[in-house]
Amino acid sequence: MTHPEVAQPLEIIRDLVGTPGRTNPYPRYEQLREHGAVVGVRPGLMVVVGYAECDAALRDGRLRVQDGASYDAIYPDWREHPALRGYIDSMLYRNPPDHARMRRLVSGAFTPHRINALQPAIEQMTDRLLDQLAAAGGDGVAVDFITEFASRLPIAVISALLGVPEHDQAWFRRIAADVTIALEGITNQDALTVADEAMLDLSEYFVALIERRRPDPAGDVISALVHSPAERLNQQELVANMMLLLTAGFETTSFLLGHCLLLALQHPHYAARLRAEPGFAIGYVEETLRFETPVQATSRWAATEMTLLGNPVPAGTKVVLVLGAANRDPRRFADAGRFDPDRAGIQPLSFGAGSHFCLGAPLSRMEAQIALPRLMRRFPELALAGAPRRRDTWVGRGMDELPISLGW
Ligand code: HEM
Repeated sequence: MTHPEVAQPLEIIRDLVGTPGRTNPYPRYEQLREHGAVVGVRPGLMVVVGYAECDAALRDGRLRVQDGASYDAIYPDWREHPALRGYIDSMLYRNPPDHARMRRLVSGAFTPHRINALQPAIEQMTDRLLDQLAAAGGDGVAVDFITEFASRLPIAVISALLGVPEHDQAWFRRIAADVTIALEGITNQDALTVADEAMLDLSEYFVALIERRRPDPAGDVISALVHSPAERLNQQELVANMMLLLTAGFETTSFLLGHCLLLALQHPHYAARLRAEPGFAIGYVEETLRFETPVQATSRWAATEMTLLGNPVPAGTKVVLVLGAANRDPRRFADAGRFDPDRAGIQPLSFGAGSHFCLGAPLSRMEAQIALPRLMRRFPELALAGAPRRRDTWVGRGMDELPISLGW
């Protein structure tokens, strides 16, 4: 029984999705934790804020992702929205047995070998973007790190993997941002209209790219998918999954890079270690992923009545897995509110767990581990040049603007 002064879960959730909660969700997570690691918000809705519980839930096959059938129940018009249709055709919105088939086919092209082989190219892309940053921020002019760097590197990298020509990347960046709006949910109709238009343009672009690769394969992921020797994805699935690869890793990685830099500017001794200590970036990036989780939450549906580490979950319940809260669970992380890259065994849940574990985790880690030390070494006097502007969303946690001066 909770104390009457303790805020009730529904109130906390309302607060969390409003602007104050979006700005700083962490005190709200602690309020939720007072109700337990698995919290009933109202009939049909539970939130999970414990690390072990989120991990178990993500690995539990009885908890399913939202798919076409579950969307039919909550938003029957979804098929009229290309942006929703585009995502729902991808693996992120598929359950067994369809999910395993799709994931196997995509990961057969998105291999560790192909990702590792990209390391020298990522180093070059980083250095080129740092040159551009230097040009934009010459003479002490403040520059926005997000526009000039953090949003550019992930697009350059995924474009190289997918085989998107360099001259299309600026367009790609804009359109990917518009499409990604649909991932925040279906609450804002205006944003959905923008996302719909962007999705149509993007699908058309991908179809054309696929047609170019059919007779003329290159070493990229699209060619590998189109020319896979055995079973193939159909065209609709192919486009949906390419679109997922593009958008799932774009803003998430940009948010990660932004927080990596902001935390370094707030902790100069870590900035110094990023410059000097080879290998320090590994723990630094993991701790940033934990401390400022780019995707704060994901969700599942209980297919049957079940218990989750002893907590009863009725059939049909929507279960929101708050990764950002799990990553600050004091039962898992001592002094969880402190940023400490020297923690042992961090293993944040920022990329999920289980069958939908992020396919791009090694890629985004590699980007951040390469970029941060190079950035800090190149601009030893780098400093904040104004207030960062946060994206006003709860699920996606990151900045739209991070003004910096390069110190010359
Ligand atoms: C810091 C960067 C990133 C974060 C925080 C992140 C986070 C996540 C999370 C939490 C999930 C699981 C969602 C769920 O279980 O409901 C996921 C899935 C996924 N991510 Fe990432 N991601 C990042 C970067 C990337 C990149 C760079 C790519 C690809 C280039 C990518 C591709 C995917 C794909 C394809 C899935 C779906 C896997 C499936 O459904 O089987 N992500 N990501």
